[in-house]
Amino acid sequence: MEVIIYPDKESANRAAADFVANALRRNPHMVLGLATGETPLGLYSNLIKMNACGQISFAGVTSFNLDEYVGIDKNDENSYARYMRDNFFDKIDIDISNTHIPDGMAEDIRQSCRAYEKSIRDAGGIDLQILGIGSDGHIGFNEPTSSLASRTRMKTLTSETIQDNARFFGGDPDAVPRHVLTMGIGTILEADTVILLAYGVSKAAAVAAMAEGPITSMIPASALQMHPSVKIFLDEPAASKLKLADYYKWVYSRKPSIDAKH
Ligand code: F6R
Repeated sequence: MEVIIYPDKESANRAAADFVANALRRNPHMVLGLATGETPLGLYSNLIKMNACGQISFAGVTSFNLDEYVGIDKNDENSYARYMRDNFFDKIDIDISNTHIPDGMAEDIRQSCRAYEKSIRDAGGIDLQILGIGSDGHIGFNEPTSSLASRTRMKTLTSETIQDNARFFGGDPDAVPRHVLTMGIGTILEADTVILLAYGVSKAAAVAAMAEGPITSMIPASALQMHPSVKIFLDEPAASKLKLADYYKWVYSRKPSIDAKH
């Protein structure tokens, strides 16, 4: 796990966008795993700008989102399907028919989760997975005690996540759906490369537990310690509880060249 600490989230977002852009230039037909929530918005807006001025193209990209609320229609303003169109897909040159999001309105949820896993396999697997992290250590919506080998399935949100996400539902925790569909931790760990972004002091404890604590289903993101290619992009507040913060900075500042940093 490579932990990279930036002075602020703007510089972290620029670096993360450069990383994604370089991967895309190397493989224009890449399969991208995408996240929603507040964290990736800055990364997406940098990628949208690069796309608009012709530096990168998403025309050959296939994407799979991590998660979706159960019982919310894809056109509902709170659905992750709508979030993706509003904040990313409608602003880049991706072919919308190559984008995939779990179907929160599926009649047969188990079957639709199995089909989601199959479409990821049929696409050749995820080349680059983008993640945020919940304040309780979740990735996707794999809440504490999720199996570290889990696949796409329905999960129930914790009260901490319901409180955290109430801001997207007019501040009303009762309006936040209790159930979600999410890629599993096993699904996420199969991506070739993973980048995780975390900003703000509210993420500091989860980030420290993920990177420096034991691997435990109580902190689902700690499973990333078992993945051979993970980069963590942090701002200073999110890094504030890391014991080895100075070491991570020292290592990064001595990387041989800018190219190697991407
Ligand atoms: C969303 C997702 C979640 C979020 C996490 C952080 O697709 O997978 O794991 O990344 O809940 O959310 P924000 O970024 O809103 O703090």
